[in-house]
Amino acid sequence: MERRLEPEVMDDPEQAGAYAAADFDASNQAFADRCVEALRGVERGLVVDLGCGPADIPLRLARALPPGVRVVGVDASAAMLALARHAVGGAARVDLVRAYLPDLPLRPGACAAVVSNSLLHHLPDPAPFWRAVRALGRPGAPVVVGDLFRPPSEDDARRIVREAAVSDHPLLERDFFASLLAAFTIDEVCAQVRDAGLAGALRVGAVSERHLLVRGRLPG
Ligand SMILES: C[S@@+](CC[C@H](N)C(=O)[O-])C[C@H]1O[C@@H](n2cnc3c(N)ncnc32)[C@H](O)[C@@H]1O
Repeated sequence: MERRLEPEVMDDPEQAGAYAAADFDASNQAFADRCVEALRGVERGLVVDLGCGPADIPLRLARALPPGVRVVGVDASAAMLALARHAVGGAARVDLVRAYLPDLPLRPGACAAVVSNSLLHHLPDPAPFWRAVRALGRPGAPVVVGDLFRPPSEDDARRIVREAAVSDHPLLERDFFASLLAAFTIDEVCAQVRDAGLAGALRVGAVSERHLLVRGRLPG
């Protein structure tokens, strides 16, 4: 099945609200656990979460990582960031920044680690994303990028949406289906990593029937 793009930034308040209200507990915790494992040894510094959405993952990371680590969540959507600010409240060591990738207000090499979940499939062109990952992390920084991968057919996508049952909100079901069609295949992500000059540094693989994970460390 050919990739079919979906709208990039989730700036419709109703859409953002449906996303924030959905139950992503299991998949977000699984992603956060993988980040914590990959970040073992990172005791201080800035961890950036690209496309942080309602900030559920930055909050999980800040709770689990050592006290010297701050997590900065970046998202281009004002609606998502309003929900993220509400969720973060006064939580310690979480900052939120509204910025449109790849134009980020972070200097090159600023981050001790770079993570991102479910952003990649939103991007019409993934190359600037991988350049940003490479530029933001300091040498040797852990990188963890999770996303959906595109199923072979629309029928498979429909079945995945039906079986996942993360929410019965019609907007969320619509977006989930659109996201599966917009996602990259594992081979496509391997090619992106190779084109970014990171083939020796990052590994790409499936971690569930619908999720892929890219992990490793930036070149030293
Ligand atoms: C599916 S959500 C994922 C949210 C969160 N990472 C999670 O896993 O729950 C994707 C997010 O990426 C944001 N986004 C899309 N394109 C972006 C860009 N170019 N720069 C920054 N954020 C972007 C969207 O606004 C949306 O909030």
